[in-house]
Amino acid sequence: MSSSPLIFSGNSNRALAEEIAKRLKLHVGKSLVDKFKNEETRIEIGENVRGSEVFVIQSICRSADGKIGVNDSLMELLLMVDALRRASAARITAVIPYYGYAKQDKKTKGREPISAKVIANLLKVTGTKRLVTMDLHAAQIQGFFDIPVDNLMAMPVLCNYLKKEGLSRDRVVVVSPDAGGVHRAELFAKRLESSLAIVFKRRPEPDVSEVTDIVGDVKGKIAVIVDDMISTGGTLAKAAEAIKARGATQVYTVATHGIFAGDAVRVLEDSDIEKVIVTNTIPLHNAGDHPKFVQLSIAQTFADTISRITTNRSVSALFDGEEGGTSEPGPNEAPVLQTATA
Ligand code: R5P
Repeated sequence: MSSSPLIFSGNSNRALAEEIAKRLKLHVGKSLVDKFKNEETRIEIGENVRGSEVFVIQSICRSADGKIGVNDSLMELLLMVDALRRASAARITAVIPYYGYAKQDKKTKGREPISAKVIANLLKVTGTKRLVTMDLHAAQIQGFFDIPVDNLMAMPVLCNYLKKEGLSRDRVVVVSPDAGGVHRAELFAKRLESSLAIVFKRRPEPDVSEVTDIVGDVKGKIAVIVDDMISTGGTLAKAAEAIKARGATQVYTVATHGIFAGDAVRVLEDSDIEKVIVTNTIPLHNAGDHPKFVQLSIAQTFADTISRITTNRSVSALFDGEEGGTSEPGPNEAPVLQTATA
């Protein structure tokens, strides 16, 4: 394998790919990622990749300008991997900062697909040899793959921001917005040296949430609700309302993936939440101008991971220790991309 890795990107989150490449002192390789007149995705790799280690960076999400939808971004990724394999790349790693189609990761009733497994199958048949992703909706999605999967965490970046804002220790209670998020919230609570509370929610129908109960003491505390993704914003807005009603003084929310579907920005703007903090795994296509929204960059985490993969060093070591980084100034140095005072 030739020594220097090559980075390629589709159109869903090109800004993140360029930032990762820059931090690695590389450039995003030349490629044509476009559409034919009949709307089919058209790919041409513009550089020699023979014998090279290649990373394709593409979140399965809508692009910032809205021209590339979720399905287009998936198709771009699959066809890029196929083109690279046919061009004799030695090893292709799919870097998918946001792994879309993860919500349907099991059958909850009859005649449903397991979409997350379909994506895994498609990546495999096109020639992906390794997956790097972040905060999978359910960690067990890793089991859908028989190739190495690095499921990175945005937690160090998010916690460092919260600490810098003074949102830690006794004044804060970390809140999981549902039973499924308790483990994640526990990790945050440990790192912030704060207590933990759990909101129980139910979904009477898809994309609608209702709070049924809260376990833990939130009275007189600043609540930090931790989630993996924000889609309609309903989960967080409803949880914030319930927590405030139980006596929390303020509510902040952090999530790795800011999808902000439909009316989510308005729902969160109108909510009891002080700040909505997300990362740039997904571009902020409709929340950028709103003062409540903060986007942190996780580019360094991905850059460190790519660097470690290419030099056969431990990736998990990046997340060991109290500060979430070891030898490299990675997850601790996350620039705030867009912010404003709340
Ligand atoms: C649920 O299991 C997830 O962790 C999120 O809480 C959920 O996907 C958020 O969706 P929404 O913003 O539409 O309520």
